[in-house]
Amino acid sequence: MKKTLILYYSHSGNNRYLAERLARRLHADVEALRPRIDLFGLLLFFSWIRLSPGNRRIRHDIRAYDRLILLGPIWAGQLIAPLRDAIRKFRHKVTEIVFLTCCGSKDETKSEPFGYGRVFDRARQLAQGQLRSCRAFPVVLAMPEDQRDRDEEILNVRLSDENFDGELEARLEELVRELEPIAESPVV
Ligand SMILES: Cc1cc2nc3c(=O)[nH]c(=O)nc-3n(C[C@H](O)[C@H](O)[C@H](O)COP(=O)(O)O)c2cc1C
Repeated sequence: MKKTLILYYSHSGNNRYLAERLARRLHADVEALRPRIDLFGLLLFFSWIRLSPGNRRIRHDIRAYDRLILLGPIWAGQLIAPLRDAIRKFRHKVTEIVFLTCCGSKDETKSEPFGYGRVFDRARQLAQGQLRSCRAFPVVLAMPEDQRDRDEEILNVRLSDENFDGELEARLEELVRELEPIAESPVV
């Protein structure tokens, strides 16, 4: 089984929730990325201008892992600075990277300027062939179905055990199945 490290950045808690839930399912280690300058406005600006302050050293030893799972939010259609720095730093230190986001954009708008599709393209380009897959967990899926057209509510969604179910849970399980193929049955 591949040894997996999950590194996440989260400002309002959604990606932290997803990272910790996935870590429990995969029996993986998990750690928060700590940008050198962790001020929301500045990080947003750094993400926008594609410059960055870098992250503090992680506590886990990356050499002990085959697979790195990176996740964080999308802001203003950008691959955020902490994730960009992590891809640059670790892309050739592991066998493969999986990129996830718990984001505000929906599947139907993924190709629009603020959609996750462009961020995935950017992450793939930056990872130089090391990105195995990208998956989105749009927070709108945590809202009751009859309220999902209320775009103004999307930024207020906070993932929790109460609302992480249905399609979100199905996506998580699909990812777990992809990452941990069922062991072959022993020959009897
Ligand atoms: C300033 C700001 C800009 C955002 N821009 C986008 C965006 O362009 N595309 C998107 O999919 N989500 C966008 N979002 C939504 C976040 O990605 C989403 O709320 C995410 O789940 C937050 O993750 P966190 O709780 O881990 O910080 C934006 C959120 C904020 C606060």
